[in-house]
Amino acid sequence: MTIDDVRLITFSPTRTSYRVGEAIVRGIGADRVETLDVTLPGDYHATLPTESLAVILVPVYGGHPAPPALERMKQIQGQGTPAVIGVVYGNRAYERALMELDAFVSAQGFKVIAGGTFIGEHSYSTAEHPIASGRPDEEDLVYADLFGQKIRTKVEAAADLEHLYGVDVRRIQRPRQPFFPLFRFLRRVVKLRKSGVPMPRVPQVDADQCTHCGLCIANCPTGAIRKGEECDTMAERCIRCCACVKTCPQKARTFDTPFATLLSECFTRPKENRIIL
Ligand SMILES: Cc1cc2nc3c(=O)[nH]c(=O)nc-3n(C[C@H](O)[C@H](O)[C@H](O)COP(=O)(O)O)c2cc1C
Ligand code: SF4
Ligand code: SF4
Repeated sequence: MTIDDVRLITFSPTRTSYRVGEAIVRGIGADRVETLDVTLPGDYHATLPTESLAVILVPVYGGHPAPPALERMKQIQGQGTPAVIGVVYGNRAYERALMELDAFVSAQGFKVIAGGTFIGEHSYSTAEHPIASGRPDEEDLVYADLFGQKIRTKVEAAADLEHLYGVDVRRIQRPRQPFFPLFRFLRRVVKLRKSGVPMPRVPQVDADQCTHCGLCIANCPTGAIRKGEECDTMAERCIRCCACVKTCPQKARTFDTPFATLLSECFTRPKENRIIL
């Protein structure tokens, strides 16, 4: 078999999932690549041909695939179309996210032939509280590119789609997680919850810095910021993805959550990317 038609499907508010997906697709090296970026609200109805290959990358939110990603991908159907799936997480844990993504895309008509778990800079990471800062880095992207090359080899080795075998993503190796930092994290989370310290529900905005350029509106996946009211955020729509924080040219938006301190202090050891195919 050969692959000439690859569809990169991603939801990626702070662009780490997108960048990992791009590197995988580069490694596959298909003639035709189309990107279905479902990050912003829109109509994404599509049925992918059986002869194409879907590469699906989404971030992990609370140990699950980011809910808006699945919500939007409900519009995209496969027809027994082979798919590579990946979850990108901020160096804490991906928990059941890969398995849930696998179940979701399979129900949408795709056949999962490879999977991966990748590290991306945590959406809450700041200069003061870095969490997987700068990832995916060069090395991560080389790893993702190599994964793409291995996928090509796997596809080319199959005589036809029937012989292009699916994978059981539950068998992917979990990254090493030392016990004590995890224990410390869980203990501090319990203490934080009991303390009654209010958790921010939306990013804070420094009105003196804001130039009303509208970039945050353009980058918000859920339409939580209104034109002319850039210093406010609709809490009921905000998913705390931090796209607005990371793209504001004035650094007027910040998301200061006590969780950032905990994550930064307890998950200092960089986790490894993992793949299965
Ligand atoms: C609401 C929310 C929940 C998150 N939950 C987790 C998590 O459970 N585990 C983890 O390691 N990272 C978690 N992260 C970090 C993201 O998975 C990580 O930053 C990812 O690279 C973001 O992807 P993107 O750049 O494509 O938006 C969370 C981020 C947000 C915004
Ligand atoms: S991106 Fe920053 S400067 Fe521009 S409107 Fe939004 S908050 Fe204001
Ligand atoms: S307002 Fe909320 S949902 Fe919109 S980009 Fe900012 S953090 Fe994300």
